[in-house]
Amino acid sequence: MHDLDLIDLSGPLADAILETTESPIVILSPDGSIARFNKASETLTGYSAAEAIGRKVWDFLIVDEEIDAVRGVFEQTFAADIPTHFTNYWKTKDARRRHLKWSNKTLLNKNGDVTNILATGIDITDIESTERRLSEVQFELLHMSRLSTLGEIATSIAHELNQPLTAAASLIGAVSLTLKKKSNGELCPQIELLDDAVDEIRRASEIMHQMRDFVRKHKTTRTPHDVNKIVEEASAIALIGADAQKIKVTTNLGNNIGEAPLDRIQIQQVVINLIRNAIDAMKESPERRLTISTQRNDGMIAIKVEDTGSGIPEELKTRLFEPFVTSKDDGLGVGLSISKSIIDAHQGEISATNLNSGGCIFTCKVPAGGHDQLDDNS
Ligand SMILES: Nc1ncnc2c1ncn2[C@@H]1O[C@H](COP(=O)(O)OP(=O)(O)OP(=O)(O)O)[C@@H](O)[C@H]1O
Ligand SMILES: [Mg+2]
Repeated sequence: MHDLDLIDLSGPLADAILETTESPIVILSPDGSIARFNKASETLTGYSAAEAIGRKVWDFLIVDEEIDAVRGVFEQTFAADIPTHFTNYWKTKDARRRHLKWSNKTLLNKNGDVTNILATGIDITDIESTERRLSEVQFELLHMSRLSTLGEIATSIAHELNQPLTAAASLIGAVSLTLKKKSNGELCPQIELLDDAVDEIRRASEIMHQMRDFVRKHKTTRTPHDVNKIVEEASAIALIGADAQKIKVTTNLGNNIGEAPLDRIQIQQVVINLIRNAIDAMKESPERRLTISTQRNDGMIAIKVEDTGSGIPEELKTRLFEPFVTSKDDGLGVGLSISKSIIDAHQGEISATNLNSGGCIFTCKVPAGGHDQLDDNS
């Protein structure tokens, strides 16, 4: 607690602090009425200091559902016991809701009586909505990446098993045909069993194809998106923990990039996989630099992820975008094959080049285009 009174708080130093800080600061009387309302509070709420001073906070600033609680704090609590920290919602003059986090100090006079409460706020509305947005994107991506992985596995299994199943069905069919010929049209239980076996094999093959089609059904929905924004959001998620791994990240987003018709979640999935791969590749590198950039050229937008890692192993170079190709103990090896399917579906291209300086660069190119060009591109 401070041995100050309002006279000190009206001095030139207090004035300078109150009027230059970007934090809303409100000085309240013990009964909850406003004694000072600084410039940042005016900007935040749209009320001038002249409009605010003398009024109780709950009369015009607190959102309806919190009025009773805030009034209760002032009317039923000794001013000295007002909590030092809390958050609440304010309504602005133009009826917007802002979420504020307050730190409070009670100010005492020489006799130890509370003269005022100094409340310093932080507007956390935007921070919260960014955090919410990021966790929504993270959730969508997780869901989508599970589906894609499942799709890739289902497609591979269907592809691998189709041939032996078809071969088995024809072999059994041939045996059944031979028996039928030999039996001269007489009913024979072995033939029936063989025909049932062929039906079962066909059913297994159908189930596999249905499973593949089911996961593939998640169609790409492309709408014009600001490419830089998509890359920024994906990077924020992919780079969680990068600091701890001492990775120096440079983001170089061109300022004339504009929009492209994209499935946002799918493209973010690609960017995240490229960044994660780059981070993995730099684990053993003494120098860990990651550069994420965007460029626009000849109607195409390029997203590039460059690292100073190990480079792509020679033996993987030709199979890099095939499923189940991995050099990692815990890798599935589906990231790049999913990325290639996604970029192909966007009529784009993805490529990788090892750099002479060590490390490698992945480039994804997609056709640019906003609302007006969408029909041409989709
Ligand atoms: N930036 C990179 N530098 C060096 N090698 C890379 C890089 N990106 C990919 N690779 C190589 O390509 C392989 C395949 O990558 P891909 O993303 O498809 O699968 P993964 O990362 O191994 O597993 P996951 O399915 O979890 O993504 C990696 O295992 C790695 O050997
Ligand atoms: Mg990967």
